[in-house]
Amino acid sequence: MRFTVNDQVFDIDVDPGASLLDLLRRLGFYGVKNGCDNGDCGACAVLVDARSVTSCDYPARAAEGKRIVTVEGLAPSGSLHPLQAAFLDTGAVQCGFCTPGMLISAVELLEHNPDPSESEVREALRGNLCRCTGYTKPVEAIQLAAARMREVDHD
Ligand code: FES
Ligand code: FES
Repeated sequence: MRFTVNDQVFDIDVDPGASLLDLLRRLGFYGVKNGCDNGDCGACAVLVDARSVTSCDYPARAAEGKRIVTVEGLAPSGSLHPLQAAFLDTGAVQCGFCTPGMLISAVELLEHNPDPSESEVREALRGNLCRCTGYTKPVEAIQLAAARMREVDHD
């Protein structure tokens, strides 16, 4: 099966029963977290052809020919993505287990909506369970990143 992860091409044999989560972690993308293995928590979210999916209930074989982005792909050059920087700046990362999935949801949101309201951000995070933050700081982080990204676009 051939597919790309963070612009790296893979051409490998895949267990027919494997989930995309299993496959990505087998390939070393440990930023993709297994929180529930049941499609409920969003910790395993990745982008598949620019759409956020829960990789634990996405069959690995369905990724044939697709372009996958994991949290590792948000900072290819080592400099943080504006969303990652904003999460750190606002204190939105506590234990951090939910953070990769939240970042993926946020990337998808800002792709379509560069100036989301608080309720739109909360709606975008509805599939991401977080036990630590109460969501206030992640929402603040996403709006801060959105503002910074709009500023860069206007420069
Ligand atoms: S591990 Fe996939 S949704 Fe929880
Ligand atoms: S920061 Fe701990 S689960 Fe969200």
